[in-house]
Amino acid sequence: MDAEPRRPWIVGVSGASGTPYAAAVLRALIAAGEPVDLVVSRAARLTLLDETGHPFRDAHWREDLRRWLARGADGSPDAFPDALPEDAPEELVRHWPAGDLAAGPSSGSYPARGMLIVPASTACVAGVALGLSKDLLQRVASVTLKERRPLVVAVRETPLNGPTLQQLVALDRAGAVVLPASPAFYAGARHIQDLVDFVAGRALDAAGVPHRLYQRWRGGLGSAGTPPSMA
Ligand SMILES: Cc1cc2nc3c(=O)[nH]c(=O)nc-3n(C[C@H](O)[C@H](O)[C@H](O)COP(=O)(O)O)c2cc1C
Repeated sequence: MDAEPRRPWIVGVSGASGTPYAAAVLRALIAAGEPVDLVVSRAARLTLLDETGHPFRDAHWREDLRRWLARGADGSPDAFPDALPEDAPEELVRHWPAGDLAAGPSSGSYPARGMLIVPASTACVAGVALGLSKDLLQRVASVTLKERRPLVVAVRETPLNGPTLQQLVALDRAGAVVLPASPAFYAGARHIQDLVDFVAGRALDAAGVPHRLYQRWRGGLGSAGTPPSMA
């Protein structure tokens, strides 16, 4: 028996706008040496295609993920060339097709740290709040709640309608952290990537994963006037 079983963070990417948020979270987890299990919903393949121009294919997921993670939020293709190194251990990142309801993480007995859904669509919010488990992503979210593991839901929609607001309250009451994909401007953002990294960093804060994605508030007004690179 393994002394220390692999206990990954499950990262669920649903079909809301905001694939750069997912990329930033994935890069930070990989950089921290945290194992990751990735689930990309069918709709998220469309948002990824729309926002990056590239597909995400089950049969070529590692190659597609490497290209996605290398891309900056401003569209530059090689902003993070070493985000997923060619020689990274296979077990660092695993991918499970969203239609695979027999996948490891579909069971509470599968060892997992918790789950981040980044970004979360309103359809995903509804599905998780109602316990629909219509695909692997929603099933893993339900499992995460029932096992009382951390669940971070980075919802991305605006404005929000009444049913979604009620479903977000239901998720909060069930123990999830509802984290609107809502960047702040006190951390001295100068570029799109800074705004993206702020949201990704707050999601990782909620999960308790150390990172250096944004400049934390240090007390005292006016620090936003200092670019992050000079702070
Ligand atoms: C290009 C594109 C952008 C979208 N952006 C959002 C969004 O920001 N928020 C949202 O809730 N849904 C958005 N949608 C709609 C969702 O993709 C749709 O509700 C889908 O059923 C979500 O499925 P999933 O939760 O299984 O990924 C978008 C769809 C497309 C094609």
